[in-house]
Amino acid sequence: MIIDLSGKAAIITGAGRGIGRQIALTLAREGVKTALLDVRQELLDEVGELFAEQGFTSAQYLCDVRDADRVTEVVREVQSLFGRIDILVNNAGVASGGVVESLGEEIWDLNMDINLKGTFLMCKAVAPIMKAQNGGRILNAASFAAIVPAYGSAAYASSKAAVKQFTRVLAGELGPWNVTVNCYSPGMIPTDMNHFADLSEERQNRLLDTLTLRRWGSKDDVANLICFLASDLASYITGTMIDVSGGKLATQIPVIAYEAAERKDVKAR
Ligand SMILES: NC(=O)c1ccc[n+]([C@@H]2O[C@H](COP(=O)([O-])OP(=O)(O)OC[C@H]3O[C@@H](n4cnc5c(N)ncnc54)[C@H](O)[C@@H]3O)[C@@H](O)[C@H]2O)c1
Repeated sequence: MIIDLSGKAAIITGAGRGIGRQIALTLAREGVKTALLDVRQELLDEVGELFAEQGFTSAQYLCDVRDADRVTEVVREVQSLFGRIDILVNNAGVASGGVVESLGEEIWDLNMDINLKGTFLMCKAVAPIMKAQNGGRILNAASFAAIVPAYGSAAYASSKAAVKQFTRVLAGELGPWNVTVNCYSPGMIPTDMNHFADLSEERQNRLLDTLTLRRWGSKDDVANLICFLASDLASYITGTMIDVSGGKLATQIPVIAYEAAERKDVKAR
């Protein structure tokens, strides 16, 4: 079985660093022409250099996904550059938090505007192009927080839960044009967003103890899923959310299995 993405064209938002950069690199290695969007020019410069060194066909666009006019303009430019847009990855996101009692409106708005409205604006601009092509793949970054929210994550978790529902609505609207719309929920991938790898050993262990596969996820774990979902192999998958979280909270107290394995005790319960 071969994932053949060669010749396709993709837009990846928040591609300047972290998971988005890895998604873009992985798609590019599979022969995809990539449009890299980010709100930070210095990250775009870095990533542009990296892609040029590797000889990938790509272009960088300074674009805040909250800015409807800029989103429309960039999508138009990408379409005229590559002639089509086969894949849209709405990866750009922020995760600002705080408990509800003291949560500032600006933090609430920031999460909603980037995570949810940004996804909406990108989809709105790309949908007519994919409909005209009679095909496309839209992939939206949700989060494990859309399944089980963490303490102090009201703004973030609510925005990501809304991304999940938005994904289903759009999947229904675009089904007749062979455009699939899915979201994915990464969990516990150390990046500059969460600095998991810099926490004290004790705090890292507390988090790792919630994972059925007791290790941090990698950016590749997410990027590989995106390649599959963007390919023809996934043509019958739409309107769903796929969890890439090492089975976070999939099992009750997963650490018990690791303690038993250490004791080589296969009978213990
Ligand atoms: N890392 C994880 O464990 C994890 C878990 C669940 C969900 N996610 C989701 O995955 C996505 C990527 O996360 P990450 O950990 O790589 O984060 P990150 O902070 O490392 O990267 C986010 C990127 O988005 C860009 N960005 C931020 N605001 C933007 C805007 N308004 N317009 C355009 N670009 C913007 C940033 O400049 C940055 O390059 C996010 O949507 C996040 O919520 C990550």
